[in-house]
Amino acid sequence: MDCPISRAVVPVAGLGTRLLPATKSQPKEMLPVARKPIVQYVVEELARNGVRNLLFVTGRGKAAIENHFDSDPALMESLRKAGKDDLLLALDFEELGLNILYTRQSVQRGLGDAILHGESFAGKEPFIVALGDSIIGLHGESMACQRMADAFVREDADVVIAVEEVEPAHVRFYGIVEPHGEGDVFRIRTMVEKPAPDTAPSRLAVSGRYVFGPGIFDRIRQVKPDKRGEIQITDAIRAIAEGGGKVMGVKLRPEEKRYDIGNMPSYFETFLEFALADPDHGERVRTYLRRILAE
Ligand code: UTP
Repeated sequence: MDCPISRAVVPVAGLGTRLLPATKSQPKEMLPVARKPIVQYVVEELARNGVRNLLFVTGRGKAAIENHFDSDPALMESLRKAGKDDLLLALDFEELGLNILYTRQSVQRGLGDAILHGESFAGKEPFIVALGDSIIGLHGESMACQRMADAFVREDADVVIAVEEVEPAHVRFYGIVEPHGEGDVFRIRTMVEKPAPDTAPSRLAVSGRYVFGPGIFDRIRQVKPDKRGEIQITDAIRAIAEGGGKVMGVKLRPEEKRYDIGNMPSYFETFLEFALADPDHGERVRTYLRRILAE
């Protein structure tokens, strides 16, 4: 599938403190959601959207991610001999046709800083950013990145952000955009972090997928660290929008729900939803849940 943007940066260096103790010695991006670790859904989604070059921004304690995507000829051979074709398919990352690179963020200075680590990888070309702890659509089946890349090129934009409509009561958990215009692709005037429902400029929440032009790197360098010493990507995007740059929003479709796995309730819910939708075991899980809920 052709995509006008073939590079993606996947930040996976965050500490994942909200998922402790599960994340004490393993990356949150490697927590399983039903059959696969979270980050595998993200990588498969990017490949499906036409991405060819992928840079993971990893950090201390994240080696499991590199090991997961490494090729393992001995394992593949034993699966082949055992006739386990379905597992062969799910584990043959070479089939995805991706060139995967890794770099390290040694100090967790926030998402903006993690993206800055992609500067030499991106060069002067636009690139996608896909958060390694967010899945878009059930089992990652979404073509939103391709629509975002198309919008970036067509509109000659500086930034494109995926947004999802959330419940009014939930706007205080997210970055919320102030749209200028309507429709599925629209200009963004500015954005606010975690507003109260009565002051929120909309219900459209920033949703873990971005397209940036190379101008983003200088903007990130101008951002002052927040109270926790983190460089927030939202601050860099807001500076572009308020300085007259073209920041566009692309709405996720109803079937492209955003699963943010960064906190416990949302991780539990996502696991359940994916397990219930499992083609082989979903029915059994449903029966079991019905039974224990009725007890
Ligand atoms: P979060 O905002 O959820 O932060 O990161 P976090 O540090 O991982 O988690 P908590 O707040 O301690 O629970 C969103 C995405 O950005 C990456 C994370 O790995 C995650 O995929 N990230 C965040 C980095 O790569 N570097 C950072 O410094 C911060």
